Amino acid sequence: MEIINIRRSVRSYSNKPVEKEKVELLLRAAMQAPSARNQQPWHFIVVDDEETLQALATVSRNVQMLKEAPLAIIVLIDSESLTAPLMAPQDASAATQNILLKAVDLDLGTCWCGVYPREERMEALASILNVPDRFQVFSLIAVGYPKDKAANRFVDRFDPARVHYNKF
Ligand SMILES: Cc1cc2nc3c(=O)[nH]c(=O)nc-3n(C[C@H](O)[C@H](O)[C@H](O)COP(=O)(O)O)c2cc1C
Repeated sequence: MEIINIRRSVRSYSNKPVEKEKVELLLRAAMQAPSARNQQPWHFIVVDDEETLQALATVSRNVQMLKEAPLAIIVLIDSESLTAPLMAPQDASAATQNILLKAVDLDLGTCWCGVYPREERMEALASILNVPDRFQVFSLIAVGYPKDKAANRFVDRFDPARVHYNKF
């Protein structure tokens, strides 16, 4: 619960690089996600190249934090591998969230940037990253050490009025 409670969207990062071992742990967490019919539709692009990060940051205002972030993980859906196509965005969401939570465990900060289903963002990112046509760009996750060490902090959002037992 502690990791879930303190995870926040971090949009300001120190310039400390993210260790390769930590990147692998994030990807391991992602691929442990549940998926419809266990279709595991995900691929990941790990970007740590400064020039590419700056190019990604120009795509739209919603990814401005990539001007500072030392790393981005882009979650893709392989549209030709799907046995439950309509569920693939949910699978990719679960993988994305696993990365966010594992990052907190590793003292990292992240920000989930929505890409799918906005065609203009999907196409702009696919073009910069040379993504083949069969893959859809689903999400972009900025990753890095938070500039403010207390960036991940508890915000209580529990609202009993949103809970309905047995019937609405
Ligand atoms: C599907 C999705 C898309 C999001 N897209 C963006 C985005 O493009 N840029 C951004 O800065 N934050 C984005 N966020 C982060 C939300 O703004 C953030 O989760 C929300 O304000 C709650 O804050 P918290 O993550 O700190 O709890 C996105 C979150 C989700 C789940």
